[in-house]
Amino acid sequence: MKKIEEYVRSIPDFPEPGIIFRDVTSILQDADGFALAVDSMQALLDGVEVDVIAGAESRGFIFGAPIAYNLHKPFVLIRKKGKLPCETIESSYDLEYGSATIEMHKDAVTPGQKVVLVDDLIATGGTIEATARMVEELGGKVVKIITLMELEGLNGRKRLKDYDVASVICYEGK
Ligand code: PRP
Ligand code: MG
Repeated sequence: MKKIEEYVRSIPDFPEPGIIFRDVTSILQDADGFALAVDSMQALLDGVEVDVIAGAESRGFIFGAPIAYNLHKPFVLIRKKGKLPCETIESSYDLEYGSATIEMHKDAVTPGQKVVLVDDLIATGGTIEATARMVEELGGKVVKIITLMELEGLNGRKRLKDYDVASVICYEGK
């Protein structure tokens, strides 16, 4: 059986010089790769009590939704600003390249709920930190953050030191 790392295509100097882009499409294009990615991420939740799974647009949806489905838990969409139709709260953050504002519906998490955050990748940790802030603003408790990949060279862990973070693959560089 192939290891999950073997499904990840790495593209040097995309989208800018010095960045190695870790491509999830090469995992998703392979049925075994996709299944292994979802199963490996879900395994990080063994023993974790969870009420709600939240995923960050867009790549967080790809992995968050099947995990929520498998666990029979609700799935909350964290969207880029301007996409959600009802009352929202928002949070802004700097990306590895650029900046962004994300939103979630105010009624998506209720006080005291145990929330797991899912994304494909932690780089600087900005996206997940902004997501965690919103969940907490609504009174939710972030009980675990899971990602498929983590770029250790960008110090996302340090930024997320107050949280229980687990990823399937850790890359040393950026
Ligand atoms: C990418 C990736 C993570 C985030 C990681 O999303 O999918 O969500 O960046 O970077 P960070 O830890 O520095 O925040 P991106 O906003 O590029 O968009 P996408 O998911 O819609 O492709
Ligand atoms: Mg993303």
